[in-house]
Amino acid sequence: MSALLGLYEEIKHCQKCEIAKDRTKAVPGEGAEDADIMFIGEAPGWHEDQQGRPFVGPAGQFLDELLALINLKREQVYITNVIKTRPPVNRDPLPQEILNCRPWLDRQIELIRPRMIVTLGRYSMALFFPGKSISKIHGTAQKWDGIIYYAMYHPAAALHQQRLRETIKADMRRIPELLAQAKSIPEEKQETPPQQSSMFEV
Ligand code: URA
Repeated sequence: MSALLGLYEEIKHCQKCEIAKDRTKAVPGEGAEDADIMFIGEAPGWHEDQQGRPFVGPAGQFLDELLALINLKREQVYITNVIKTRPPVNRDPLPQEILNCRPWLDRQIELIRPRMIVTLGRYSMALFFPGKSISKIHGTAQKWDGIIYYAMYHPAAALHQQRLRETIKADMRRIPELLAQAKSIPEEKQETPPQQSSMFEV
């Protein structure tokens, strides 16, 4: 069994949070083990909980469309979430749930070693760009320790606010150019990205 599949088994059995009791399936993540790009969403919704796969509902359909804009299929990238279990009635993830799930995400990043991490929405953004506001930093990239971090709005935001659709598409279209010009993106001074999420500052 690959290290990634072993990790999925651990995630499926994790009971650190109360919400684990009510899930249909945990949603560890999926995609290419050697993906260049890792997309990190917020939390599984109803469809994801049923299937055990990330972004398979309406937001996922839009994510597939966004990937097609840059000639990628979901099998060529890696897709996961900040937390791996659906919160009841799709409430926001709690700070403790985010902390409990963080080691899984860190191990996924270690195993995949993506060249670029794309945060989808503010919960994911807050892990890597603490204190920043998504309306200010979407579509901008920073580099730490050789990985490009790029913040985008959550695809579901476009389902509720039509005016964001073109913004999200434009941000997606920048990804190939950023990867191609990775060397020219300035490296931030700190050696690793911030580890603490500060949800109350976003
Ligand atoms: N929204 C997310 O953040 N993640 C999913 O997997 C589905 C919807």
